[in-house]
Amino acid sequence: EETYSFVIAANRLPVDRHVGPDGEQEWRRSPGGLVTAMDSVMRGREGAAWVGWAGEPGEAPEPFEDSGMHLHPVALSEQEVTDYYEGFSNDTLWPIYHDVIVPATFHRRWWEAYLRVNKRFAEAVAKVSDQGATVWVHDYQLQLVPRFLRELRPDLRIGWFNHIPFPPVELFAQLPWRGQLIDGLLGADYLGFQRSADAGNFLRAARQLRGLSTKGEVVRADDDRRVRASALPISIDFAALDEMARRPDVIERAKEIRSQLGDPEVLMLGVDRLDYTKGIRHRLKAYQELLAEGHYSPPEVSLVQVAVPSRERVDAYRRLKDQIEGTVGQINGEYSTVGAAAVHYLHQSFDRAEMAAMYLAADICLVTPLRDGMNLVAKEYVTCRHDLGGALVLSEFTGAAHELNAAYLHNPHDIQGLKNTIVRAVEAQPTEKRRRMRSLRRRVREHDVQRWAERFLQALESAPERPTGTPS
Ligand code: UDP
Ligand code: G6P
Repeated sequence: EETYSFVIAANRLPVDRHVGPDGEQEWRRSPGGLVTAMDSVMRGREGAAWVGWAGEPGEAPEPFEDSGMHLHPVALSEQEVTDYYEGFSNDTLWPIYHDVIVPATFHRRWWEAYLRVNKRFAEAVAKVSDQGATVWVHDYQLQLVPRFLRELRPDLRIGWFNHIPFPPVELFAQLPWRGQLIDGLLGADYLGFQRSADAGNFLRAARQLRGLSTKGEVVRADDDRRVRASALPISIDFAALDEMARRPDVIERAKEIRSQLGDPEVLMLGVDRLDYTKGIRHRLKAYQELLAEGHYSPPEVSLVQVAVPSRERVDAYRRLKDQIEGTVGQINGEYSTVGAAAVHYLHQSFDRAEMAAMYLAADICLVTPLRDGMNLVAKEYVTCRHDLGGALVLSEFTGAAHELNAAYLHNPHDIQGLKNTIVRAVEAQPTEKRRRMRSLRRRVREHDVQRWAERFLQALESAPERPTGTPS
């Protein structure tokens, strides 16, 4: 196998392998915002490799090429999917890093698997990296990779970016393995976070839980290396999505979606992985009350909720699915009419062009997370609105809210406040909506994913320490 000068490692490859009942294999785009962003960054880059899991337990497929990238699959056994992925990553870290919206579960066996799999990722990266290569590690699933990798390959430049929040030290301190996680990350030269509050939380954890000294954004690690931690909010490929949303077939499809829904006066849209961080229950509650109070009724108003299946074997996700499906059933039972559903619930995943058409069709986009590192759906919605139509209703608890302050901001825990915000967005004058949308689009256009990646790589390049063995 060849080696590469630019290597990224993420739990998932950009594509998932699905093997059908007849043994035929098919590759599908992986879910989530990380893949949306990094796929745009990696596409067409020369000499680049992506190390990740192919989404199925068992033996890893052979490395292969895809749209100019070298994809190097890492194997996870059935037990490791349970312990490392569903367990430690998504039932221990995910809740702790998202304000314990649901309680976190701690198992020593899960931690052991997390250690083992992080080592395996580090070995895979070491194998495909050129001498002196730049390595970019992603997200909470791989926090030990920077340290393991530095031990194997001190010649590499190592960066890490956290796509989700980094928790306040009071929550992080609950983790029995908090010290090892901090040490794992400090194997990197540079650590990137979504918001300065996240970088601040990490620096505080390093001081309070590890007794390390910090100066501004720089931590002095135990081995005397200096590691910088700062904020770099992620984004999307504005130009590519804007162009897609201007395609005649996409515009036509948006019209068709509206007419298939019976041409409602107000079409509301929610697009999320089916995750308790997304505030889908709060959103449905607000919508249900608006219907109950007679503010709106079908067919004049309709809500389309896309809920992409996610982590379905984790209890908290299973419970959430039952709750949401129960509530959707109740709302439809009470308020739908023959031929006009109050909620169109789609437990499916759609491709980019269909997403663009949905965004273009929707009068209101409801983004109501209780906590979200960024939320790319918010940025995608405004990017698709080249017509300056539509309104974005956005939770304060998203990374996106820090940049998109021209949105209709709200606190999703405050159901009455959320209802008022929705009504305000629906009833706003067209000139007011256009003014806001213009401002939102300018922000995303000027801070797109290409710019984010450039800034990350510059920060990594100019990080305080030189790798061992490289001339300075
Ligand atoms: N998405 C998609 N098809 C769907 C639903 C969502 O491609 O049917 C994409 C969406 O366009 C966005 C990503 O999934 O790019 C979700 O990213 P976000 O940051 O909003 O949330 P995450 O899932 O990463 O928590
Ligand atoms: C978020 C995380 C990603 C993850 C994605 C989908 O965006 O930050 O790391 O890949 O959700 O979740 P999944 O568990 O299906 O990979």
